[in-house]
Amino acid sequence: MSDVSLRAVSKNYGSHTALRTLDLDIAQGEFLTLLGPSGCGKTTTLRLIAGFIDPTAGRIYFGRDDVTDLPPQKREIGMVFQDYALFPHLTIADNIGFALVERGRKPAEIEKRVTELLNLIRLPGAENRFPAELSGGQQQRIAVARAVAHSPRVLLMDEPLGALDLKLREAMQAEISAIQRTLRITTVYVTHDQSEAMSMSDRIAVMNDGRIEQLGTAVDIYNRPASSFVAGFVGQINLIAGEVAAGAVVAGGQRIRVSGSVPPSGAVTLGIRPEQLRVVEPGLIVSDEFDALDGIVRSTMFAGSVIKVEVDAGLSAPLLVEMHPDAPAVAAGERVRISWRVTSATILAS
Ligand SMILES: Nc1ncnc2c1ncn2[C@@H]1O[C@H](COP(=O)(O)OP(=O)(O)O)[C@@H](O)[C@H]1O
Ligand SMILES: [Mg+2]
Repeated sequence: MSDVSLRAVSKNYGSHTALRTLDLDIAQGEFLTLLGPSGCGKTTTLRLIAGFIDPTAGRIYFGRDDVTDLPPQKREIGMVFQDYALFPHLTIADNIGFALVERGRKPAEIEKRVTELLNLIRLPGAENRFPAELSGGQQQRIAVARAVAHSPRVLLMDEPLGALDLKLREAMQAEISAIQRTLRITTVYVTHDQSEAMSMSDRIAVMNDGRIEQLGTAVDIYNRPASSFVAGFVGQINLIAGEVAAGAVVAGGQRIRVSGSVPPSGAVTLGIRPEQLRVVEPGLIVSDEFDALDGIVRSTMFAGSVIKVEVDAGLSAPLLVEMHPDAPAVAAGERVRISWRVTSATILAS
């Protein structure tokens, strides 16, 4: 049985529709991420689960319990925000113990729980310090400890790492994952950062314009994107406009074989990831498992771990190819052949 379920939940703000009939099931102990661009409805979904706002239609369940009409304080949730929202005038111990004091727990029990959580977040002995004495990453760990102190049913996090710089953000992704795995607390995490979503989540719900476009593991979503939007939002992809003619896809005047079925007719969009493309010698005959197109290098860009090469191959847009830095170098103006495994070309729903 699911731990958190949304059943046909929609949300309008006045005449603006923020969520359109959303269905979502989150399993016990799962780390589920809502991923999508700004304005797609991630925060709205989280606030509905928390009970800060009411749905326009639909029901929300925690296990078998319909919580739609319960106020936030009766839902047993823990919440972490981007700006930490620690109480500046309270010590770390009082911050972490806040929800326990509110629930009338005994001082000895609270002290024990605070010590346990400070160990878990690797800040032992920080009880008597104040938030302002800690770094941003440390404050965010305290915020996580505070959110889970009362063993809530669900942990909700809204872009908790948004204020941190890249290196610290990556370190914190690992910290939060480790805490979540230790506690096995059902978690709904919000981010617009695809690499963050991919590295932390059991499953990802990719949202666009108030809908879930795809729900799956990072591998599912990356390798089998359900739409052009998902393909482009999660990683980079070449989108190639083509036409179906006589049961095959034709793009730039050339037949391109694809994995999966081809619709009977009409315009299609092909997707191929830049790292699936190889630059080979012009005229090289490729084996049956591969397809190839000839083109001219437009530009090359050194990006550290990869070299990004743009190739004009007579398609609707230049092809972006990611080359390994050790591969033989190519230069703008050079004739090349681009090849790829047939299985890496897929037809995407628009
Ligand atoms: N309180 C509100 N009143 C009116 N419109 C809102 C309100 N909150 C959010 N919206 C709108 O609803 C849509 C979804 O917002 P939100 O859930 O905050 O998106 P996200 O968190 O994905 O950026 C956006 O178009 C936003 O402008
Ligand atoms: Mg938001």
